[in-house]
Amino acid sequence: MRVYKIAAIPADGIGPEVIAAGLEVVETLAACDGGFRIETEHFPWSSAYYLEHGHYIPEGGLDRLKTFDAIFFGAVGSQQVPDHVSLWGLRLPIAQGFDQYANVRPARVLPGVKSPLIGGEGIDWVIVRENSEGEYAGNGGRAHRGLPIEVGTETAVFTRVGVERIHRFAFDLARKRPAKHLTLVTKSNAQRFGMVMWDEIFYEVAADYPDVKTDRELVDAVTTRMVLKPRTLDVIVATNLHADILSDLAAALSGSLGIGPTANLNPERQFPSMFEPIHGSAFDITGKGIANPVATFWTAAMMLEHLGEDAAAKHLMAAVEAVTAAKVHTPDLGGNATTADVTKAVCDYLRARKAFEPRV
Ligand code: NAI
Ligand code: MG
Repeated sequence: MRVYKIAAIPADGIGPEVIAAGLEVVETLAACDGGFRIETEHFPWSSAYYLEHGHYIPEGGLDRLKTFDAIFFGAVGSQQVPDHVSLWGLRLPIAQGFDQYANVRPARVLPGVKSPLIGGEGIDWVIVRENSEGEYAGNGGRAHRGLPIEVGTETAVFTRVGVERIHRFAFDLARKRPAKHLTLVTKSNAQRFGMVMWDEIFYEVAADYPDVKTDRELVDAVTTRMVLKPRTLDVIVATNLHADILSDLAAALSGSLGIGPTANLNPERQFPSMFEPIHGSAFDITGKGIANPVATFWTAAMMLEHLGEDAAAKHLMAAVEAVTAAKVHTPDLGGNATTADVTKAVCDYLRARKAFEPRV
């Protein structure tokens, strides 16, 4: 029996609702297959915890997390704590502390889901986001606060090591997909240092991947291409900020923010990787029992794949797709199903199929 230690950090808003649903489907999957088991430990780190204790991650917290095989994360963000405090208090210390430099964000229109875009059913993208430096390097400062001469700087930091490793990761990923096509996205017309270096290193790395087709697009132009010619894109590699924005657009174009999954990977596996839905706390629907758990299920499938449980991951995605095709949809997708309804439908499908079958 293969055993995986999972650290669950549901945190804020709908995070606890979708993580509970996600763990339920993974437990069901494990029970069906019999080949693996998960041992989950819950960490109460959240904005409520911060308001009580003055910190999100207690001393030694990262050292404890380090012993897990994967981190299953909900969302962080509260109306009682400024967003920059919550993000830098919990999610970024884990992603940066564990050098999870490759943020992988697939977007695809699942069966039965309607894209708001005409021709949107052609969306099948993976956005690879640089996740350790760039615009979110935390480099900057404020001076002369409150005075007319106040100044704030936010310096993007790009290193050769950081840029080269994300490009290699993106090429490796593109190579495994049928289209073998990688689009470089930067803003190297206006930003002539770091962004030009991104472009240069991309083409250096490209020489090692002659089987991968490449093209490049400025970040503003790629938004129009995503909307007008979705089928011309396959894998996109972009900086921390640019890919953050593009992946919300990708999720919305593929039907809902409640669908998009993400993996924060430390590809060298020196540290655990972190898996989370791309959405945030969703204050407007917290506690109503209607959060779409599909993003978290897809996220769980990515986590299983990372753990080497490919058959289980495929089985889970087949279940999710059967359920979206059957129109068991939460309100964000125009339906009236609850989080519990969708979760039950996925678990029922998993139990009915029991043994894993290859997806047809
Ligand atoms: P959000 O993703 O929480 O919500 C945007 C809209 O999408 C809302 O109308 C919400 O109801 C809807 N939505 C999101 N997830 C959904 C789901 N699973 N099912 C159905 N509808 C869903 O983004 P927003 O409003 O910008 O941010 C709210 C809080 O979350 C902020 O504090 C923000 O900082 C935080 N946040 C945290 C993230 C993280 O932990 N990685 C990512 C994005 C935002
Ligand atoms: Mg975002």
